[in-house]
Amino acid sequence: MTGPERRRRRVLSRTRIHERVRELGRQITADYRDGQLVLLGVLNGAFVFCADLCREIDLDVEIDFIRVASYGAATESSGTISLLREPNLDLVNKDLLLVEDIVDTGTTMAWLVDHFQRCAARSVRICALIDKHERRRVAVTVDYAGFVLDQGFLVGYGLDCAERYRNLKAVYTLA
Ligand code: IMP
Ligand code: MG
Repeated sequence: MTGPERRRRRVLSRTRIHERVRELGRQITADYRDGQLVLLGVLNGAFVFCADLCREIDLDVEIDFIRVASYGAATESSGTISLLREPNLDLVNKDLLLVEDIVDTGTTMAWLVDHFQRCAARSVRICALIDKHERRRVAVTVDYAGFVLDQGFLVGYGLDCAERYRNLKAVYTLA
C-alpha cells in the first residue's frame, strides 16, 4: 500500500454505489416517462457518475456536459461561479437534469439552476451522487440524492480532487 493510500477510509463501496445508481435510474425513468430528458453532467467530478447513471435510465435521453469554474486547488467554493463550457444541445422546452457529484455549500448548483431556468427549459432539477446536506449555505433542492453524507473531503469514483484519478470504483474520505 502506498503512502496516500493509507490515509483513505472507504465510505461507499462499489456495490453500494452501483445499487443506489440503479435505484436513481429507475426513479428518474418513472418520473420522466412523459418528458424530454436532458442529462447535463458537471465536469469533471460527475463524469463517472453520469456515465453510470445514464445507463440505468430506460428512456431516450440526450446527454451533454458543462464545466464550471469551481474548486481548483482550494477545498471550498468561492461563491464566484462561471460557466467554462456551455451545452451544445438546444435546451428549449427540455427537462434538464443537472448531474453533479457532490452538492456541498450549494453555491454551484444554486447558480446553475438559476442560469438554466433562464434558457426556456421546461424544468430544471438536480441529481447528485452525494448531498453534504449539513454544509449547505445556499438553499438548493437536491431532487435526486444518492447519499447524504457529512464525511469531510471525498475522493474516488472520479470525484473532483487535486490529485490524479485513483480508485474509480469506490468513494473514500481523506483522513
Ligand atoms: P458547492 O458549490 O460548495 O456546493 O461545491 C460543489 C462542488 O465542489 C462540486 O462541483 C464538487 O465537485 C466539489 N466538491 C465538494 N465537496 C467535495 C469533496 O468532498 N470532494 C470532491 N469534490 C467536492
Ligand atoms: Mg465539481
